[in-house]
Amino acid sequence: MKISENLPAIGVTTFLILGLGLAIYRFDASPANAVIVSVRVPELSTTALAGKKKYDDYCAACHGENGAGTEQGPPLVYDTYNPGHHADQAFFLAAKTGVKSHHWRFGNMPPQPQAKEREIAKIVRYIRELQTANGIFFKKHQM
Ligand code: HEC
Repeated sequence: MKISENLPAIGVTTFLILGLGLAIYRFDASPANAVIVSVRVPELSTTALAGKKKYDDYCAACHGENGAGTEQGPPLVYDTYNPGHHADQAFFLAAKTGVKSHHWRFGNMPPQPQAKEREIAKIVRYIRELQTANGIFFKKHQM
């Protein structure tokens, strides 16, 4: 058998291997295997609606519309962020000092000094109302 007879097969095999390699590479390079959840938006309280405005300004670029997550940051409407695991204080702290990457592989969250405390309080209310509407409730954190 001459190699020239096998050229089409070699071509196809090479193509497939390169394609697979590229797919694996792309998968690996995608940030932290971004998790984007689908969020049901309930009727929001006035406070939560005010919080949504600030959230959209300060947080949505990374945490996504309605806390659903993006390629830059995790979803906040997510069981990890239930009030038993991340109390409201975690939100104030996150905005004030930033967050060192620990739960995910998006990298660190930079501080958000433009977010004032009373705005964060409203953002927390907004996220909690979204969480509740999506079945995320207080669960005691087990170490
Ligand atoms: C530049 C992107 C970015 C922006 C803007 C951002 N975050 Fe984050 N945030 C992240 C990332 C990434 C993490 C996850 C870090 C980890 O645990 O790996 C995170 C984590 C958090 C956490 C979890 C903290 C903890 O203790 O684990 C809270 C709460 C949070 N963000 C709230 C906010 C709020 C509120 C805003 C807006 C005021 C905001 N973030 C804006 C990227 C961002």
